[in-house]
Amino acid sequence: SDDAQTPSASGPRLVLVRGDITEQRVDAVVNAANSSLLGGGGVDGAIHRRGGPEVLAACRALRASQYGRGLPTGRAVATTAGRLPARWVIHTVGPRHSPDEDRSALLASCYRESLRLADELGARSVAFPAVSAGIYGWPMADAARIAVTTVRATPTAVAEVRFVLFDDRAYEAFAAQLD
Ligand code: AR6
Repeated sequence: SDDAQTPSASGPRLVLVRGDITEQRVDAVVNAANSSLLGGGGVDGAIHRRGGPEVLAACRALRASQYGRGLPTGRAVATTAGRLPARWVIHTVGPRHSPDEDRSALLASCYRESLRLADELGARSVAFPAVSAGIYGWPMADAARIAVTTVRATPTAVAEVRFVLFDDRAYEAFAAQLD
């Protein structure tokens, strides 16, 4: 019988979309958040703007309970998606790119932890942005490599992982990883 928690042997279908993550009709959209969970620019700004005050209220509640010091880099936490078409927002905190230190394990952790949480929620479709590849300065090709290799290596019951890329450059970088 079908068990929502059983990872499929083949892993999720990987889909690339050029577009806006806030418009995706999936079970969960991943937010490229910061540790404060209280909003910012880029994807985070768009999710809070379009998701509405319910999302921020849920984030504030998390800060007041489990994450008084903020969500650590590489971790993930879920809230309602408010007015978004998705059911949940999975907030993850990517690392800032550093020229002196290899932080790629933390970026891989964002994808792994988000998928683990998606499994806990019972989400079957998850949309990711290019975490850390905007304001946090990660080179797009490397961000795409880490995203795709980590998702492929992570056992999950999620059936579809959709990478939602905002521009041609990001789309091409992810497409190159899928070839
Ligand atoms: N849909 C899909 N992708 C988008 C969207 C969108 N609506 N908007 C931007 N992108 P970023 P980060 C792309 O900066 O680098 C915030 O202030 C963008 O072009 O959103 O992890 C947070 O609060 C880029 O390719 O996330 C943090 O402080 C990618 O999404 C910080 O930025 C990620 O860019 C996180 O920075």
